[in-house]
Order: sequence, then C-alpha cells, then structure tokens
Amino acid sequence: METFTDSVTRLSSPQLLFLTLVLLYVTSPPCAASAQAELSRGFKATPDPSIQTFQPVLTDPTGNFSLGFLRVNKTQLALALVHVPSSDPVWLANPAQLARWSDRTTLLFNGSLVLSDPQSKVFWSTHSEIGDRLAVLDTSNVQIQTTQDTVLWQSFDFPTNTLVENQNFTSTMKLVSSNGLYSMRLGNNFMGLFAKFKPGSNADQMYWKRKAMEAKAKVVEGKGPIYARVDPDGFIGMYQTGNPTPVDIQAFMTFPRLINGLRKVRLEADGNLKAYYWDGSNWALDFQAIAATCELPSPCGSFGLCGAGNGSCSCLNNQTEFYSGECFPVQTGDFCGSGWREIKNFRVLRRNGVELPYKELMEYKMMSSYGECERTCERNCSCWGAVYNNGSGFCYLMDYPIQSLVGVADESKMGYFKVREGAGRKKINVGVGVGIGVVCVALLIFVGVVGVWRFRVWRRKRGGGGKRFMGQDGGASPGPYKDLGSASFRSIEMGGQNG
Ligand SMILES: *[C@@H]1O[C@H](CO)[C@@H](O)[C@H](O)[C@H]1NC(C)=O
Ligand SMILES: *[C@@H]1O[C@H](CO)[C@@H](O)[C@H](O)[C@H]1NC(C)=O
Ligand SMILES: *[C@@H]1O[C@H](CO)[C@@H](O)[C@H](O)[C@H]1NC(C)=O
Ligand SMILES: *[C@@H]1O[C@H](CO)[C@@H](O)[C@H](O)[C@H]1NC(C)=O
Ligand SMILES: *[C@@H]1O[C@H](CO)[C@@H](O)[C@H](O)[C@H]1NC(C)=O
Ligand SMILES: *[C@@H]1O[C@H](CO)[C@@H](O)[C@H](O)[C@H]1NC(C)=O
Ligand SMILES: *[C@@H]1O[C@H](CO)[C@@H](O)[C@H](O)[C@H]1NC(C)=O
Ligand SMILES: *[C@@H]1O[C@H](CO)[C@@H](O)[C@H](O)[C@H]1NC(C)=O
Repeated sequence: METFTDSVTRLSSPQLLFLTLVLLYVTSPPCAASAQAELSRGFKATPDPSIQTFQPVLTDPTGNFSLGFLRVNKTQLALALVHVPSSDPVWLANPAQLARWSDRTTLLFNGSLVLSDPQSKVFWSTHSEIGDRLAVLDTSNVQIQTTQDTVLWQSFDFPTNTLVENQNFTSTMKLVSSNGLYSMRLGNNFMGLFAKFKPGSNADQMYWKRKAMEAKAKVVEGKGPIYARVDPDGFIGMYQTGNPTPVDIQAFMTFPRLINGLRKVRLEADGNLKAYYWDGSNWALDFQAIAATCELPSPCGSFGLCGAGNGSCSCLNNQTEFYSGECFPVQTGDFCGSGWREIKNFRVLRRNGVELPYKELMEYKMMSSYGECERTCERNCSCWGAVYNNGSGFCYLMDYPIQSLVGVADESKMGYFKVREGAGRKKINVGVGVGIGVVCVALLIFVGVVGVWRFRVWRRKRGGGGKRFMGQDGGASPGPYKDLGSASFRSIEMGGQNG
C-alpha cells in the first residue's frame, strides 16, 4: 500500500483521477456481498462545535445509515449508527461512557477504532489492532475488516438496546434499555426480560419469558446454544446453532409480509420489547411483548399501584398523591446491618387487593396464613415486602425495593411492604435537626457573651480582686460553658441521627 502511494504521488492529476476511477471500479464490487462505505487506517475526526445534533463520519452507499457523532444532553457525545431517514440511533458504541462534545475528543482508526480525548483517556475502542478498513454496510452493520475480507470486529456483535433485521442475537449478548434498568437475554430454551431492581446485585428479576414453542424444530440438549434473529418477514425467530429451522417464532402483526422498510426490535425504557418497521415516514409499531400497561415491570414507579381495570396510576399508600411518577423517593439496599439501630429502621404499609405483575415468574412459598407470610418477611432483613394470596396460600417475598403493584378487586390478595424510615419525610427531619442545632449554638453563644461581659463588668468594679477570685472559684465560670457545650453537641448529633 505504501509503495503504491509513493508511485501515485509522482503521477500527474489527470492520470491520478483516471487511476482512482479504475481502482474504485475494480475494487468496490468484490469487497463484500453487501454494499459498504469504508475508511482506511490513519483516519481521524473530531466533533464540530457548531453541530447541535448529529455529525456523520461515514455513510453507507444507500444513504440509509450513518456512523457519526451524536450529541447527548447538549454537552456529551456518543459514537452512534443512525438510521438517516428517521434520525434514530440504532446502535451506540459507548452508551455507558459518554465522551465530551469538545474539539479535543478524537475518533481515530489505527487498526482499532478508538474514541479518546487528549488526556489520552480512551472512552471506547474496538481493540481490533490489525484492521485495514472500517466499513459501514447497508445492513447497518459497522465492521472492521482486513484486506483479505476477514471481519475482525462488527457492531452487530455488541448491540445496545436495538436489534435490526438479520442481526444475530446470541446467548452471550444482551440488550440493555437506555436507562440501564432492563435487559434482554437468552436462556437455554427461552428469551427473557430482566429488571435491575437491586442496583449492584447480579440477581435481576425476570419479568417476561418466552419459552421456545418448538413447533418446527426441537431444542436438542447439548447441541449448542440458541440465538435469535429478527426476520424480514416479520417475526423474532429463535434458532439452535447449526439448524436453520426455527425452534420458535414470535410473529409480528405484519407477519408474513416482506416490508420494504427496515425492521427493528427495541428494548424500551419502560421495559417493554417492541418491534417496528419504517414505513417511509414513521416507525410503525408491529409487536409488543407486554400488551397491558400494568404488566410492565414498574409502570407507576416505586410503591406505585397500577389499576388493572384502566391502567391508571396511584400510590400503594393512599395518603400519598401520585404525581410525576413517584410515590416515594427511590429506595435502595436492604435492612441488614450490624448495629442495633438498623434492625427496625422501617415502617410498615399494608394494602389489600394487590398483586405482583409478573407473579408467574416469581418464587413463592406455601404458607397457611397471611400472618405467617408477613412475619417471614418482617424478620428477614433482606425482604422488602410480601404479597399473600389467601385463596391459594402462596406467599411471594420481594428481596428488592418495592416497585409497582397491580390493583385488583380481590381483597384476599394482601400486601405487606417495608418503607425505609424517613423516606418522604427526610427533608423535614433534616431541617428540624439543623434548626435545633442552630438554636442551641445561638443560645450557647448568647450565654457565653453575656457571661463574659458580666464577669468583666464585675471584675472592673472589684479592681485587682479578680485574680484571687479566679484562683478560688476558677472552675465555676468555665463550668457552665463546658456543660452547656457538650449538651448541645449531643442534641445536634441526635438531630442528625433522626434525619
Ligand atoms: C434505504 O433502504 C431501503 C430498503 O430498506 C431502500 O429501498 C432504499 O432505497 C434505501 N434508501 C436509499 C436512499 O437508498
Ligand atoms: C441527560 O439528562 C437527563 C436530565 O437532565 C438525565 O436524566 C439523563 O440521565 C441524562 N442522560 C445521559 C445519557 O446522561
Ligand atoms: C491506536 O491508538 C490507541 C489510542 O491512541 C492506542 O492505544 C493503540 O495502541 C493504537 N493502536 C495501534 C495499532 O497503533
Ligand atoms: C447469522 O447467523 C447465521 C447462521 O449462523 C449466519 O449464516 C449469518 O451469516 C449470521 N449473520 C450475521 C450478520 O452475522
Ligand atoms: C381507574 O380505576 C380505579 C379502580 O380500579 C378507580 O379508582 C380510578 O378512579 C380509575 N381511574 C380513571 C382515570 O378512570
Ligand atoms: C386508605 O387505606 C386504608 C387502609 O390501608 C383504608 O382503610 C382506607 O379506607 C383507604 N382510604 C381510601 C380513601 O381509599
Ligand atoms: C431472607 O430472604 C432472602 C431473599 O428472599 C433469602 O434468600 C434468605 O434465605 C432469607 N433468609 C432467611 C434467614 O430466611
Ligand atoms: C382467608 O382465608 C381464610 C380461610 O381459608 C378465611 O377464614 C379468611 O377470612 C380469609 N381472609 C381474608 C382476608 O379473606
């Protein structure tokens, strides 16, 4: 390549143009089965400060897909693959580690595609090292290839929240919703949606499950993992590696029609999995995994209640108004601790006529009474709440902060919930604590100042006698000051503990 460039530089311009055209004509068709636009090693780009939304870097030959800089929240930057007609990002390189929209942020291709900034902080890299070209395909796949057409890296292997048609979703991948709360993964014979109700824990709660129906082909144990793919004919197929016959088909509304526009499946921020197709001007909804609002993992936020009849939100605690999507501030962690103070730092909320939205996927214990179910949860510091079905005797225990429940007419479905002490009242308590502290300190200073002033007046009246007095009774004057001081500090500490 270098020797070729050297000889090219010695040619005149018309010769060069001719040679370039011939070269383009000769090299582009056999590159790959699908059309692609490409860049070679040494390429570099920085974001333009005047661009407010999206700055394309490389666009595929159809013009449908563009890789470039996407401005996020005004100041941040994501490297994104955008569906140009809709401006919809179907893939993000660095969703968890956004860069800054600054002319110091650089995207370079040196074998790896690297997004970094001058303090040589690397936000994201493909770590492909020996790549010869970067290509954007008309399938929306971004690839790093060698001159021998080996694919070293491809964006299809690292989906964010979206799958496009013909993209293989394997059992080692996951889709993650834009807020990071929900994910989609494959099991040995199913597809599942999971919620991260307990941050920092790996024990995600499954809230939706699609087991392979195995109508056309069976999942054979030990014959390899399954994978899923959005089919252009309008379904999500699950397949077992090595067998092109699907073990499962989840049909969309347009099934089995071939649509001219792109199909995509997205894990939305509310936890639903939806399929769309581009109809030329809009993304038309074609499928949703969860049809009823109340069956979403947390449609009314924490401690919310979703009315099964009409899908409207209220609060589990009927004294709290439902506003802006939250009944109580989001709570985290559990009630386990070492000190005696932490054992019962919660208050209790009970409510009848409630159900868990995904109870079929939750574990339960058989218990003979509601009281037994409640006590089991009360005594376990990692339990946040329990729902008891008085008809069946099922006791569901929640080991994560309470999310939305479904309100049902059946009053024999009873709920017990722990609310962290101070939640929703925290601000008032902190305020009162600080207030008491301030008053005490002010009082203290006042008493001190008055005391010193009176002592000085008294000493001035007595002349030199002060020294002898101090010697005899010296402990008395600083005494009250010290006592009052320690007492008021204790009260400040207590105020702080309440808050
Ligand atoms: C975009 O893709 C569709 C098929 O998905 C194709 O018909 C159309 O021609 C493409 N757009 C452009 C500008 O090539
Ligand atoms: C963008 O800002 C909003 C609110 O200002 C925030 O909730 C959100 O997390 C931010 N998004 C990212 C990707 O940082
Ligand atoms: C490409 O650039 C990155 C970031 O500057 C660097 O870490 C990496 O070693 C470079 N790779 C090659 C093959 O030069
Ligand atoms: C998806 O998987 C199938 C079967 O393993 C394979 O033939 C196809 O090339 C894969 N597609 C992509 C885009 O990797
Ligand atoms: C929804 O249904 C509940 C009872 O299930 C009722 O209390 C509430 O007023 C209804 N809300 C609306 C907006 O219709
Ligand atoms: C609020 O809940 C309590 C018990 O949790 C119940 O007795 C009361 O009737 C409810 N009030 C309203 C207005 O629903
Ligand atoms: C407490 O609850 C957690 C989660 O539900 C469970 O794993 C654990 O075994 C329980 N502990 C006891 C002592 O029952
Ligand atoms: C629960 O069921 C028992 C009998 O199985 C019944 O006696 C009791 O009244 C029920 N409680 C409620 C609240 O429905």
